[in-house]
Amino acid sequence: METHRQPVHTQTAAYHLAKDRLELIEARFRELQSSDIPLVQDVATYLLGNGGKRLRPALVALCAQACGYEGDDDIELGVIVEFIHTASLVHDDIVDDAVTRRGNEPANRVWGNQLAVLFGDFLYARSLALSVSLGKLRLVEVLTEATSRLVEGEMLDVLHNGNAELGLDTYMDIIDRKTASLFAGCAQAAGVLAEVSSEQEAALATFGHDIGIAFQLIDDLLDYAADPDRLGKQVGADLREGKMTYPLIHLLENGSAEQRAAAMACLGDADATQTGLESVLEAMRATGSLDATREAAARYAEQARTALSVLPPTPARDALGELPQFVVNRGH
Ligand code: FPP
Ligand code: MG
Repeated sequence: METHRQPVHTQTAAYHLAKDRLELIEARFRELQSSDIPLVQDVATYLLGNGGKRLRPALVALCAQACGYEGDDDIELGVIVEFIHTASLVHDDIVDDAVTRRGNEPANRVWGNQLAVLFGDFLYARSLALSVSLGKLRLVEVLTEATSRLVEGEMLDVLHNGNAELGLDTYMDIIDRKTASLFAGCAQAAGVLAEVSSEQEAALATFGHDIGIAFQLIDDLLDYAADPDRLGKQVGADLREGKMTYPLIHLLENGSAEQRAAAMACLGDADATQTGLESVLEAMRATGSLDATREAAARYAEQARTALSVLPPTPARDALGELPQFVVNRGH
């Protein structure tokens, strides 16, 4: 793992407040990835020690804290959401035929599609078993609903691959399901754990949702504009994969005929040249598509912060309030 790829939150108050819980979550990962099949252990060690930002477990731990939760099941819940997330990335890299993930080869490149898909299933099954063991049916409900929406989002993503007619509304619907659903589920599930009022549970879901949308918008921006070393995946991969994301949709809606043609020439072309990609990036800068994406993310980040006002003022709530801005400012 490259040393500069650390959990995102190391510089934030959120990280300092969640630090102890995150360490316990890491320790629990190691216990729970056990299997009498050594291969399962190998894949789990490879994936879970692989530079993830642990944003979802941090969200769980801080939301639980902000709701006054004093038990230990937030550790288990943090593990559950990271397992669901990791399972989804393993499957996503197969779907996208990805070349890199977090600066390394994705699991399907190391072990092949057959084993990788099964490993994703294993992690997901384990997360379900864990959520059942917490003994709260509502929790299982929130998590399975989030996962169903996640899968729907990925299906829509595949369905609309290469569809240059895709508008921003459909794109927003896709990322709502594909990404925001699990972030919403993390925050809401923490509220369920703490047995908060339904009003607070809804506010937590909104907070998680909006931070999730901001997160994905920045993900889509970074795919064009990041430093590839920090990003840990190829820059321009979305365009090559035929993915219609905010910056590209904005460019196709606002660019000149020539700028649109440059983008269309690369869309879905796995062998698109560096020069081709650079001309698209240049067009995005000229049409303000990158700025527009960042501004949209900032709007959702602000909305997320506002949703927290339903919770009582605590250091944990203040720390949560910093997370949206952090998500918008991240470089990977
Ligand atoms: C990343 O999107 C992918 C997701 C956010 C969701 C993927 C969901 C599935 C594959 C459904 C399977 C789920 C389970 C629980 C087994 P991206 O490709 O836009 O982002 P990337 O650039 O990080 O790959
Ligand atoms: Mg992908």
